[in-house]
Amino acid sequence: MTHASSLKQRDILVTSALPYANGPIHLGHLLEYIQTDIWVRYQKLRGHNCHYVCADDAHGTAIMLRAEREGISSEELIARINQEHQEDFSGFHIRFDNYYTTHSEENRTFSSYIYKQLQENGHIATRKITQAFDPEKNMFLADRFIKGTCPKCKTEDQYGDNCEACGATYTPAELINPRSAVSGATPIEKESEHYFFRLPEFSDFLKAWTRSGTLQPQVANKLAEWLDAGLQEWDISRDAPYFGFEIPDAPGKYFYVWLDAPIGYLASFKNLCDREGIDFHHFWKPDSTAEVYHFIGKDIINFHALFWPSMLHSAGYRTPSAIYAHGFVTVNGKKMSKSRGTFIMARTYLDHLNPEYLRYYFAAKLTGGVDDMDLNLEDFAFRVNSDLVGKVVNIASRSAGFITKRFDGQLSHVTENELMKTFVAAGDEIAELYETREFGRAMRRIMELADTANQYVNDEQPWVIAKQEGQDDKLQAICTNALNMFHLLMTYLAPVLPKTAEASEAFLNASLDWNNRATRLENHSIQKFSPLMSRVEMPQIDQMLEASRDEMPAAVGDKPVETHADPIADEIEFSDFAKVDLRVAEIVKAEHVEGADKLLRLTLNIGEGERNVFAGIKSAYTPEQLQGRLTVMVANLKPRKMKFGLSEGMVLAAGPGGKDIFILSPDSGATPGMRIM
Ligand code: 2FM
Ligand code: ZN
Repeated sequence: MTHASSLKQRDILVTSALPYANGPIHLGHLLEYIQTDIWVRYQKLRGHNCHYVCADDAHGTAIMLRAEREGISSEELIARINQEHQEDFSGFHIRFDNYYTTHSEENRTFSSYIYKQLQENGHIATRKITQAFDPEKNMFLADRFIKGTCPKCKTEDQYGDNCEACGATYTPAELINPRSAVSGATPIEKESEHYFFRLPEFSDFLKAWTRSGTLQPQVANKLAEWLDAGLQEWDISRDAPYFGFEIPDAPGKYFYVWLDAPIGYLASFKNLCDREGIDFHHFWKPDSTAEVYHFIGKDIINFHALFWPSMLHSAGYRTPSAIYAHGFVTVNGKKMSKSRGTFIMARTYLDHLNPEYLRYYFAAKLTGGVDDMDLNLEDFAFRVNSDLVGKVVNIASRSAGFITKRFDGQLSHVTENELMKTFVAAGDEIAELYETREFGRAMRRIMELADTANQYVNDEQPWVIAKQEGQDDKLQAICTNALNMFHLLMTYLAPVLPKTAEASEAFLNASLDWNNRATRLENHSIQKFSPLMSRVEMPQIDQMLEASRDEMPAAVGDKPVETHADPIADEIEFSDFAKVDLRVAEIVKAEHVEGADKLLRLTLNIGEGERNVFAGIKSAYTPEQLQGRLTVMVANLKPRKMKFGLSEGMVLAAGPGGKDIFILSPDSGATPGMRIM
């Protein structure tokens, strides 16, 4: 189907996946939003009635726990993150028609409605299941909220589903010494009733749907494998406490975040429709002539190509026209990594580099397929500098000066008509490449045209003509031709470089109108040229990497960070405790220990002579702060030979470490040697 050349106005609704509201946007996210935004801008430039909606994916346990950790409500957290996300997106010129949240009344209404439809149609089942439960927090624990020792390689502190050290996968039940990552408690098994979406009933529907041109071939093949293997019922409920929507007529049960997330597409669009008077029903009724596209990452295909169309189908809505999946982003050939500085947040990038560089680089490497995308930073600088600065902007900067200085900003008429025809005709080809998301090929075609334009200027040598007597008409015509070529190049690049496109419109005093691109700029006045884009310099990139090493969000993705410092240790008998001889000690002397980073040498008076103790408290105290103070020591600890000498006991301190270590000090009435009871 070639939409590009057809003149009929299309009604199109486009979405990108909804980012979780528990962390900042990073370059891995941006590939998708940039890809979608380019596609949407292209559709709008062609005059189609295209709406682009998105929202924060605001529900789930991870968000609830993070809010708790920050001591704020989930609502406060998601409001703050929503703001940050919108700032990041607008920094990259991602132009949503609506950016909403899944925690909205519209979404609650749609989620309940769809659920009730599924229930009425007999597509919901309930049954009891047994799961790990945190008896301290009173909550069920998903696998990733359970930690313990890997049953295979015995590495401690591994998540309940896989080991980061040896790569083994297992169930939380197999972990050695499992504990809740939320409270540190040992999980118990507990039963509760869950609600399931009967996905297997949709096997035939899905077999037809996934083969109807809605999916990329690689994705359709993957789905065929899943469909052949047989589908499972999908657990759509979670028990309280949970941040989400309560299931109608099921107190204490909430919709699993992945149930209401895609419904968030409908809700965000509805919110836009209500604001702008768009006919929601026209887009979502079963036989709609409007088109609906979801851009997503390849990791969430099952949700979009199995559950989502089945839910829509059962609830009486149309299904998506297509799902467009993309691959993952690597940086310099490797997974993004904190230590390499390549886990780059949107904000950090924007602090150092022009967002259009990244838009262009991603565009130059994007295909319509699901291949991963490597952001090679040297290649990035090279391509941006050579293509955008060296080729495209160069055409304007080589010609504009003459027009301003010699012709009072006035263009003549175009004399290179054949060349111009080639440029105009290439628009159809480039349009088709945009339409099919073959942005890389589109960029190559545009750069070929830019080469042609530069070759034209090289051949005509306006700087030589400019010095010749009586050649003014020729000089003006050459520059007019070149600027007309530049005008078309910028028209074709406008979906990728919206800001440079705007600046070009101002400079050329003309709009970049794809559908009227055969209209030339003739006998027309332009503005003075000012540089449209500067070169990327490697030091800017290095600074960005350096900054990325320092700034890592508290929790990326949905893996929880421990909320309690240390769980209380195992119980001991009183007789064990009674063995410990705790005494009040006076710090007679405190000194630095040569060669030791953390230790101070303390001379302690405990009434019956002095003790030499090495204490790891240098990060919190200077010797001067300690001298003369009373503290508590374990007086009967077996002396230990250390690198710096014999340590004859141990002083007691509290706190998480670093600057926050507090040695225990008894009331001033205590005297050295007193026994602590
Ligand atoms: O994978 C994710 O980041 C999800 N928050 C995407 C949700 S997309 C849609 F279904 F809402
Ligand atoms: Zn392991």
